[in-house]
Amino acid sequence: MLNVKSFQIEHFIPANYQEAAAPRLAEAQEKLQKGTGLGHEFTDWVRLPVDYDKEEFARIQAAAKKIQSDSKALVVIGIGGSYLGARGVVEYLCSPNYNQKKNKKTPNIYFCGNGLSADAMQEVFDLIGDDDFSVNVISKSGTTTEPAVAFRFFRDALEKKYGKDGAKSRIYATTDKARGALKSLANEEGWESFVVPDGVGGRYSVLTAVGLLPIAVAGIDITELMGGAARMMETCRTASFENPAWTYAALRDALYQKGWSIEVLACYDPAFRFMLEWWKQLYGESEGKDGKGLFPASVEFTADLHSMGQYIQAGRRIMFETVVRLGASEHELLVPRDEVNGDGLNFVAGKSMDYIRDKAMEGTLLAHTEGGVPNVIVETDGKSAGSLGQLIYFFEYACGLSGYLLEVNPFDQPGVEAYKKNMFALLGKPGYEAQKAELEAKLGK
Ligand code: PA5
Repeated sequence: MLNVKSFQIEHFIPANYQEAAAPRLAEAQEKLQKGTGLGHEFTDWVRLPVDYDKEEFARIQAAAKKIQSDSKALVVIGIGGSYLGARGVVEYLCSPNYNQKKNKKTPNIYFCGNGLSADAMQEVFDLIGDDDFSVNVISKSGTTTEPAVAFRFFRDALEKKYGKDGAKSRIYATTDKARGALKSLANEEGWESFVVPDGVGGRYSVLTAVGLLPIAVAGIDITELMGGAARMMETCRTASFENPAWTYAALRDALYQKGWSIEVLACYDPAFRFMLEWWKQLYGESEGKDGKGLFPASVEFTADLHSMGQYIQAGRRIMFETVVRLGASEHELLVPRDEVNGDGLNFVAGKSMDYIRDKAMEGTLLAHTEGGVPNVIVETDGKSAGSLGQLIYFFEYACGLSGYLLEVNPFDQPGVEAYKKNMFALLGKPGYEAQKAELEAKLGK
């Protein structure tokens, strides 16, 4: 079971931090459970692991099987919450080198439409080459520029390769059930579509069709993923510190109140990298508003101990670390003995890589804590879909609690609109004529 701990935290925050936070946590808990807080219309994710559309879930599994049988590649088009969760889960459970794996029976997965790099997109076309492929275009609003632009290219390529009718059975649209340009297109063209539920915002949508279809195509057991989330959902119903989300939210809140402004999420498994990215979006978009919120950052240890480690140890004292400990590796690799011992490394000969990693973890914990960096530890059961489902729900729930402790709406993201408006104006989108002239003047054009 997932567990949250801290290390010598009394050096940094009052020892009674839990008691102090309990009444506010109880209020936040009630808001999430009863749907009475700010942004409550976007809290359907709270019961999602059990209250989901079972008929659609079966369609997702069927679509995944079809893609596995008729495609060597799946292009997943989406950005932000319509992308990071799926990539995080696929990379963590299958590998960041998933596409390079030999004798793999499932299609390669390429994530596109998450930026505006022509070279990145062309590279995906080159990598797909003549292979059969399908496209899963994901956009809740159905109007986001980056995925819409990418989809034009990939739809065009599909229609050229398979004809309009052939392409039709290779396009899967995940979007709003009724609104938006993508939904209208899907209806007109007859593409199979999946729904991003109204009450679930982008960054809370990994356990909807948004994440589940690409994850299932990679061969991951989505029933087990949902089962893990459902178990954590039950745990999170507890209104006490038996609930690990309470402990995590209380620690973050106490540290924030004491002046820490950056939370660095760290992990010792490079496969977890895109889960770190998913977590950053979840917390950054949920808390960073009204001039408030911890800045979410991430590091991959031990690699980053050789770069960011210096700053963490001895730079400005503004950050605390939350270390995700994922348990034993799948493979036990023992360090070979070398009779000559030219590298002087025989003191670890016969020891496992996990043993050395764990000593690095302990050494880092001591060094960073002594250097003035508070450490929070999130321990999981290990690498499995069920355990990851638990971790996903845990972070989502703790994020909702944290947002309410901070007295912000954790479920909106008004700040992401500012750049979009400017971009539309500069691109000459109809309706933005006045802003265009004004912005160009500011840019000195
Ligand atoms: O969390 C969010 O709401 C955002 O990150 C969105 O997911 C992102 O902007 C993509 O939006 P959409 O799915 O509407 O294309």
